[in-house]
Order: sequence, then structure tokens, then C-alpha cells
Amino acid sequence: MSKLYVVHENPAWIGAFADAFEARGLTWQQWLIEDGALDLSAIPPEGVFYSRMSASAHTRDHRYAPELTLALLLWLERHGRRVVNGSTALDLEISKARQYSRLESAGIRVPRTIVVANKHEIVRAADEAFGDAPVILKPNRGGKGLGVRLFHTGAALADHLDSADYEEPVDGIHLLQEYIVAEERFITRAEFVGGRFLYAVRVDTSDGFELCPAEACQVGDAFCPAGSNSRPKFEIVSDIDHGLKASYERFLSDNGIEIAGIEFMAGDDGRVLTYDINTNTNYNPAAEARAGRSGALAVADYLGSLLRTPHPHAA
Ligand SMILES: Nc1ncnc2c1ncn2[C@@H]1O[C@H](COP(=O)(O)OP(=O)(O)O)[C@@H](O)[C@H]1O
Ligand SMILES: [Mg+2]
Repeated sequence: MSKLYVVHENPAWIGAFADAFEARGLTWQQWLIEDGALDLSAIPPEGVFYSRMSASAHTRDHRYAPELTLALLLWLERHGRRVVNGSTALDLEISKARQYSRLESAGIRVPRTIVVANKHEIVRAADEAFGDAPVILKPNRGGKGLGVRLFHTGAALADHLDSADYEEPVDGIHLLQEYIVAEERFITRAEFVGGRFLYAVRVDTSDGFELCPAEACQVGDAFCPAGSNSRPKFEIVSDIDHGLKASYERFLSDNGIEIAGIEFMAGDDGRVLTYDINTNTNYNPAAEARAGRSGALAVADYLGSLLRTPHPHAA
């Protein structure tokens, strides 16, 4: 069996995967991307490489980790190494604007979105596109719901842009997005491993927009606070609409993505809109325990099968 390398920058998210890799007896090691330099003229080690590079790396002081990882993945791919969630996956991970174009090419509906580089254009662009309707402002390179905000008026949006709370998106690109009025107060995140549907998790949105499922992101337990309801915040559902599932599997295959969580919402007008693709997906341990499922073990099984399959070198 060959060796697995996990390319990432956040040790807080590796624990569940480490346990699963050990449980399945995989030979593996971390490739922490902030470690040292990359010699592009060197020959990469043999093995299978799984990228878990995250769009929110900059929030952990790893501002350029995605850029460095892109160079690393292209180097591995050039040498014909088996890369899971390679350069095309990372390209989508770090840009929602590119996600939306690719989703639309695959016939998957996304919320109406305006891409704005210049902060001073935001209010005018929002007014032109959405008029008096509420609008969501979010960074193009996001993660964990950080910086996702809802505004009911142009004046409130303008105030925010002038306030100390405003943060320039890390890649300079803002997204203005139609506010999806949810049919019910939850979003669904469909998980895929090996390009195939694993399960979906319903996430209660009563608490706001920061919906990272990883244990390391949770404050307290994963239940809604008293007053909202007694249902858990994360709840696994075993299936989603079959047409949507088939579209997602085709989309992932066409875009070189093997492991991902795809988020969608049903609006009160009946539209189902897909708005976020997470290629460094984390699984919620409390929801998994209740449902008797394990995303990390599914990942370990999938990667284990790749480690046992000889990979013909392209180079
Ligand atoms: N257009 C929208 N309309 C309504 N709610 C939204 C919209 N976009 C995002 N949200 C809410 O904010 C959360 C975080 O937004 P998302 O686009 O997934 O950013 P991130 O990449 O940071 O997770 C979503 O899961 C959803 O609950
Ligand atoms: Mg999200």
C-alpha cells in the first residue's frame, strides 16, 4: 500500500481524520503547507495526496497558504501523482464567483449574484440590481460564514461599509447576493465522498450565518439555544432530491472534485438554490453520533481504496 499525504494548514481540523486513517490502518502523514519552501525542480514523493486547503486559511494567519498550495498541487499533478481535490477543486474552493459560473454551466441554479471589486461601487450596484429588496454581502473567498451579512436597506449597507466592522475581502472581491427567504429555517449541506453522495446534514440557521460543522468551530454543544427549539442544530438526513443529487455528482466529476460538502436552500418561492461548495469539508460529530454515520471513515475508506490501486504516472 502506498502512502497518503494530507495537504492542509489547520491542525484543529485534522483530529477526526487522523483517527479514521489510524482505524483503517492507512500509512499517512500531514503536509502542513506553511512548512518551508517548495522546490519546483524536485521530484515529489510517491503516494496519494489529499488536499484539504481551506478558503478561510487567512483567518488563521495563513494568508498565502491557498496560493502556495495551488503551486504544490500543480507540481504534483505535473508529475502524475494521484491528487484528491486537486488544483481545479482548490480554484473553486477559493472563489464563490467561479463556483457559481461552474454550477450554472452544469445547469444548477444559484442565487443572483453581483461581483464587485471596488468598495465604493457596492451601494450603487446593490440598488441597481436589487432595489428595495434585502441583500446579502459576502466575501468571494469565504468560509465559516465569516463576513456574511444581511442588509434590509441601502442606508444600512452604506453605514456598514463606513463602519469599523467592515472588512475588505481577502481577494478584494465582494459579492452582493439576493437574500433567499428560506421556506423553513434551515439549509442543507450534501456531503460527497469519492464523487458519490454520502449523506446530507440539515443545519438550523436560527442562530445566524456561521455554520461551520467542525467540532473545533463549535461554541458549547451543537444544539440551538433555549428559545429557538429543541432540535439539534445539525441533523443528518439520508437523502436529497434525486435529480439534484445526480446534478451534483455530475458537477463534481466534471470539475475534478472528489470530496465536498455542497450547500443549498429552498426559497419560499419554491426555487432550490445552491450557494456554497466546500472542498475541505468537515463533519459534525454530534450529528454523526446520533445517526451512526462517519464522514471521516468514509473518506478513510475511499482514500484507502486509492492507496491500494496502482496509479499510472502521467509524466
Ligand atoms: N443568499 C443568501 N440568502 C440567505 N442566506 C444566505 C445567503 N447566503 C448565505 N446565507 C447564509 O449564510 C451562511 C453562510 O454563507 P456561505 O455562502 O455558505 O458562506 P461560507 O463560505 O462562509 O460558509 C449560509 O449557510 C446561509 O445560512
Ligand atoms: Mg457555507
